[in-house]
Amino acid sequence: MAPAEGKGGGNGGTPGNCRRRLAVLASGTGTILEALIAAELPIVVVGVDRSCRAARIAEGAGIPVEFVERRDFSASFDREAYTEALVAALARHRVGTVAMAGFATVLGPTFFPAFEGRVLNTHPALLPAYKGWHAVRDVLAAGETTTGSTVHVATCEVDAGPILAQEKVPIRPDDTEETLHERIKQVERRLYPATILSFLDSAEPVTDEIAARSGVAG
Ligand code: GRF
Repeated sequence: MAPAEGKGGGNGGTPGNCRRRLAVLASGTGTILEALIAAELPIVVVGVDRSCRAARIAEGAGIPVEFVERRDFSASFDREAYTEALVAALARHRVGTVAMAGFATVLGPTFFPAFEGRVLNTHPALLPAYKGWHAVRDVLAAGETTTGSTVHVATCEVDAGPILAQEKVPIRPDDTEETLHERIKQVERRLYPATILSFLDSAEPVTDEIAARSGVAG
């Protein structure tokens, strides 16, 4: 069951009234972040794992940036230590909801209960099909004629979790990975802010099912 309003979560005791305090996590060009800023979502911090345009977009908009650098890309990467450092950085801003927007580091399982299961993601394919970082490339290689955009609650399992919104995007015969990804992003830049907004506005958005799948204690 979702924690009651006012009950502290694992995020250093984040009270329920922090739920609208949104963090955005990004690693890349940050065009989805730009759309979230343009939609005037209550972004209190942007977290990045590397130097990237997204960090400069946030700085330009006057939003604090937490640079939790990932230095190790080897098989021995200490994912749990990295996850703990990121949770601590976001907790300094009393974050209650997290929106992943092209964040390239897969986080450890402790991340999701730390935010009471209130972690959202946008994925450039129609989940549950074509999970993974190369979804646009994979959909083209498979010869599909339709793909799309999915907004979902993020869980320990990558690109899984309850789906909140989806929209189809037709694939053109002459599409490259770049042209198709850009058309999907045009949808993401509209669908993701709108879905986040209704998630934030919902009184009790984390259902029992979502909480259970996210590993949130009842
Ligand atoms: C988006 O397509 C998002 O779905 C994926 O990464 C991309 C980020 O785009 N996870 P940008 O860096 O914000 O332009």
